[in-house]
Amino acid sequence: MRLLMVAPPGAGKGTQAARLASHYGMAHLSSGELLREEVAAGSEIGRDVAAYLERGDLVPDEVVIEILTKPVLDAVEHGGYVLDGFPRTLRQAEEAHRVAKQVEGIELQAVVHLAVGHDEVRRRLLARARREGRSDDTGTTIAHRLEVFDAQTRPLLAYYAGRGLVVDIDGEQPVEKVFADIVDALDSLRAGRR
Ligand code: AP5
Repeated sequence: MRLLMVAPPGAGKGTQAARLASHYGMAHLSSGELLREEVAAGSEIGRDVAAYLERGDLVPDEVVIEILTKPVLDAVEHGGYVLDGFPRTLRQAEEAHRVAKQVEGIELQAVVHLAVGHDEVRRRLLARARREGRSDDTGTTIAHRLEVFDAQTRPLLAYYAGRGLVVDIDGEQPVEKVFADIVDALDSLRAGRR
């Protein structure tokens, strides 16, 4: 299976992607995690992107495309992928689509959109800040990340809807119920395509 999660910060992309990866036997590729690993390792890329992550701005498209391309191609050989956080701009989506058209069997099969309102994601992220202290989970940065999502990532939903790929899920329910709804929707989609 080859999936993409599109949802605002704190909507549950990482939580659900991890479960879906284990359920369907595919790789969970989180662009945010890969970028945070680069920062923690103090690599050249990490030094270049640290300030973007701290501010809640998107890092340049070229950087994420460079980091993600090989893991995506590797995952295709081993059960597929669930992409958590990439593509996140129209330019990234168009570039990913251009590459995918050249290699058989790597194109996205579904885009899972978790619908969660701003008040709920703010509540979740502030609770996570108290537990884990992620540096971009502050009130001001959360507000900025939500603005960035609405301006730069939300347009992806119309782009992928135009390709018939979007599955809308109510992400404000308990984790288990969100997961069950996603699996139901994906299994129906697969059955319909057989
Ligand atoms: P990234 O790591 O992708 O952060 P994000 O999109 O802000 O997402 P989060 O990890 O905060 O939330 P999530 O939706 O995964 O929710 P989660 O499951 O964790 O990106 C970080 C930064 O990296 C970006 O700001 C940018 O700078 C850069 N970046 C990344 N990708 C990029 C790209 N492609 N291009 C350019 N820049 C890029 O859940 C959140 C909390 O809610 C958790 O505590 C969880 O336990 C809880 N929770 C989850 N589900 C539920 C539920 N159903 N009910 C109650 N609580 C729940």
